[in-house]
Amino acid sequence: MKNFEFVNPTKILFGKEMITKLGKEIKANSVNKVLLHYGKSSIFKNGVYDQVVTTLKENNIEWVELGGVKPNPVLTKVQEGIEVCRKEKVDGVLAVGGGSVIDSAKAIAAGVLVDGNIWDAFEGKKRATKGLPIFTVLTLSATASEMNAFAVITKEDENKKWAFSAGYDSYPKVSVIDPSVQMTLPQEQTVNGAVDAISHVFELYFDGAKHTDIQDEIAEGIIRTVMKHVKILLNDPENYESRAQLAWSATLALNGLNSAGRTWGDWSTHTLEHSLSAYYDIAHAAGLSIMFPAWMKYVYKNDIPKFARFGRNIFSLEGNDEDVAVESINKIKDFFDEIGSPTSLKQVDINEDAIEMLTENASLRAPIGVLMKLNKDDIREIYKLAIN
Ligand code: NZQ
Ligand code: ZN
Repeated sequence: MKNFEFVNPTKILFGKEMITKLGKEIKANSVNKVLLHYGKSSIFKNGVYDQVVTTLKENNIEWVELGGVKPNPVLTKVQEGIEVCRKEKVDGVLAVGGGSVIDSAKAIAAGVLVDGNIWDAFEGKKRATKGLPIFTVLTLSATASEMNAFAVITKEDENKKWAFSAGYDSYPKVSVIDPSVQMTLPQEQTVNGAVDAISHVFELYFDGAKHTDIQDEIAEGIIRTVMKHVKILLNDPENYESRAQLAWSATLALNGLNSAGRTWGDWSTHTLEHSLSAYYDIAHAAGLSIMFPAWMKYVYKNDIPKFARFGRNIFSLEGNDEDVAVESINKIKDFFDEIGSPTSLKQVDINEDAIEMLTENASLRAPIGVLMKLNKDDIREIYKLAIN
């Protein structure tokens, strides 16, 4: 096992009616005025907005609102948020929504304290190490942004969808995960959450690291749990226990628990995906279910025993390592098909003409990946494999 340091400072309040405790937690962090940041309309329809403002009022916390965060959040909204925070002199940011809202909040929280343009931190030209305190009410379990320090933002004019972190200050101080507020998710968003969680496990699990028994057991447990409960939710979206299992699994998939003691993950499939959603604005998870089987086909020979372990432990496959490895890739593709997540570029109306543009975009930081270092030619081949 590799040496590691593990700290995750986010306090989680998990369960029904836990939103009621949020105001007290914000106050305990000496925050008296927040930017209340949200997406389009879901929090008004499902009552989450009312629950949030009730707890803010009960604890005498002032707020100023900025809604309109879109899925695949954009830099212009971040800049708007930074201006509002400065003008209104808020001392914390409260994100109420899914990963897009939380990521936008993280970029705002750091951007308020950065001298210059926050995008420079995404480009690696500047280090952002400080941020206003962040609080979240999660309404869509997928990204684990509620308990990690990453934010992914798109710079629209350059089609760059890139990540950054301002270190410990980018971890939310407190996140509320009430699975019952996710009962209003459209089916495809529940599926997106499951696919993203499984994909985060994949990025870590298929990293080529050795002596990772405990990490792999945790990883396989998360995969099996997500696969089981997303299927239940497709037929029974109001099943609280399955919502809860899926929610906590998604958080555990990328809160650092599972990456400790191995490499920090491969992450090339996420890079390939981010180029897709930067250009075509498709859901992050839809891009992942397209790109993962293609990436796996291209790289599995670099670690046949690991792909065989995956096939045996997740799909109960039998046979020699190479056959099981190949079949495991077919099986995960079948699973994505079964739950209705796309598995080819054609299904989302992207054809051969786009390959070169996507290859250029994803190669901006090449080589990418750990299990196999991918250069521009490799990236092109993987996109080609994803066409059908
Ligand atoms: O805008 P509203 O009306 O709120 O609707 C949202 C949005 O349209 C809706 N929604 C959320 N909660 C709901 C709900 N609808 C009904 N009931 C609810 N309870 O869901 C839609 C999608 O929301 P979004 O926040 O975009 O989804 P997700 O959580 O999947 O976030 C995706 C973004 O996170 C990034 C992705 O690239 C993408 O930009 N990622 C962030 C990561 C991180 N910070 O660690 C890691 C990930 O790998 C990922 O890259
Ligand atoms: Zn992801």
